Amino acid sequence: MSQLKQISHNDNSAPSTPGKFKIEKSPYFNRTRWHSSLAKLTLWSFAFLAVILIFFLRSPSSSVPIDPSRRSLRTYNWGGSAWEKRVRSSARVRSRNGMTVLVTGAAGFVGTHVSSALKRRGDGVLGMDNFNDYYEISLKRARQALLERTGVYIVEGDINDEALLRKLFEVVPFTHVMHLAAQAGVRYAMQNPGSYVHSNIAGFVNLLEVCKSVNPQPAIVWASSSSVYGLNTKVPFSERDRTDQPASLYAATKKAGEEIAHTYNHIYGLSLTGLRFFTVYGPWGRPDMAYFFFTKDILKGKPIPVFEAANHGTVARDFTYIDDIVRGCLGALDTAEKSTGSGGKKRGPAQLRVFNLGNTSPVPVTELVSILERLLKVKAKRNIMKLPRNGDVQFTHANISYAQRELGYKPTTDLQTGLKKFVRWYLNYYSGGKKAVE
Ligand SMILES: NC(=O)c1ccc[n+]([C@@H]2O[C@H](COP(=O)([O-])OP(=O)(O)OC[C@H]3O[C@@H](n4cnc5c(N)ncnc54)[C@H](O)[C@@H]3O)[C@@H](O)[C@H]2O)c1
Ligand SMILES: *[C@@H]1O[C@H](CO)[C@@H](O)[C@H](O)[C@H]1NC(C)=O
Repeated sequence: MSQLKQISHNDNSAPSTPGKFKIEKSPYFNRTRWHSSLAKLTLWSFAFLAVILIFFLRSPSSSVPIDPSRRSLRTYNWGGSAWEKRVRSSARVRSRNGMTVLVTGAAGFVGTHVSSALKRRGDGVLGMDNFNDYYEISLKRARQALLERTGVYIVEGDINDEALLRKLFEVVPFTHVMHLAAQAGVRYAMQNPGSYVHSNIAGFVNLLEVCKSVNPQPAIVWASSSSVYGLNTKVPFSERDRTDQPASLYAATKKAGEEIAHTYNHIYGLSLTGLRFFTVYGPWGRPDMAYFFFTKDILKGKPIPVFEAANHGTVARDFTYIDDIVRGCLGALDTAEKSTGSGGKKRGPAQLRVFNLGNTSPVPVTELVSILERLLKVKAKRNIMKLPRNGDVQFTHANISYAQRELGYKPTTDLQTGLKKFVRWYLNYYSGGKKAVE
């Protein structure tokens, strides 16, 4: 996952300390004597307005990043009969034997694609997302608008909000949860470790707590990551390989998720399927990932950092096109067995699975750059750098035979073909053609 991410990229998004602000000392307060109470009133009104204005400028919609671990303190508007109607209508099943799926992280890259694919084939889909500012919120809003046009509503809220989750299950008895909400990114974990614990551990546990207690319990499919293979050198990575030497806090929280999944399966009979995605890319992708900001920087004529390993070793990724990942996600949902518990009690053994979803053909990062140069018709300024030892691994390569056997998973898009689609989307989206983009 975004193992190619650059240091410089997130340097400007250091978390701020929200809630503190200074008001400049105003000379009016001490110097001038006010004789008219009307004037006094006017002054205080202005002061009040100024404070409100400052609050607005510091709100999450501004460019000031808010510490994501405090995001849960934001209050969201939910509830009421109009809201419930919207939730129900979004989750209504339109095909025979369709499922009812709660998709967390629905305004995210993978979440948007999975939600629209489910909706298209007639399943009921309700999205949930907290629209945090880890990367440009406008892109999440644009994805939301896209989903809205297909009839998917995204509830705005945090997976740590237990009351909201309980309410959603009260309104809609979801048969499945597609859990994609997470704090992604490898390097950002050094800047904001709390956000990983908040979303990937605390949030996941909160979601599972609600899922185990509702009746009927849903089956859960969730996103782990290829980063759990950490410092492993044996390739391709197979599901049975060791995953106890993570190279980043991100990877550690995903590995923790897999262990937590085991626990909830064991104690409460929840059906749980973890999917280890390998560097997913494509239209509507994530701006913090290398293929995305390489495109941006190449077009701007800005040098791009290209990593190489020790002794000029190749850094390569098993890039996986989004449509292939979506098919893998749907395959996992379709083959998920029912949870076996009820009333918070286990009644029998339940399904517990972990799959690699990759492309099985690692591509050197230098090749990624060459393909982008050809597609963009711009020469890249390559800044060759040594791979830092703070999260990124040298090589990823998935063994997908297990997913092939159980999910019918078979990726069909090579990097050249997939990047062509990405670049076409990128140019359209950022050329101001935001409205025209489909
Ligand atoms: N894209 C990849 O290459 C890749 C690789 C491996 C694993 N994954 C995993 O796949 C999943 C989806 O990734 P993505 O690339 O779409 O990332 P993304 O950041 O685009 O999507 C995640 C979404 O979850 C939301 N979110 C985060 N924390 C939340 C919270 N506490 N409550 C509610 N919503 C929250 C975010 O606002 C975002 O829209 C993540 O779990 C990620 O870790 C992705
Ligand atoms: C791939 O994984 C399967 C198990 O799903 C295993 O039997 C096989 O040996 C692995 N292949 C390689 C090349 O590691």
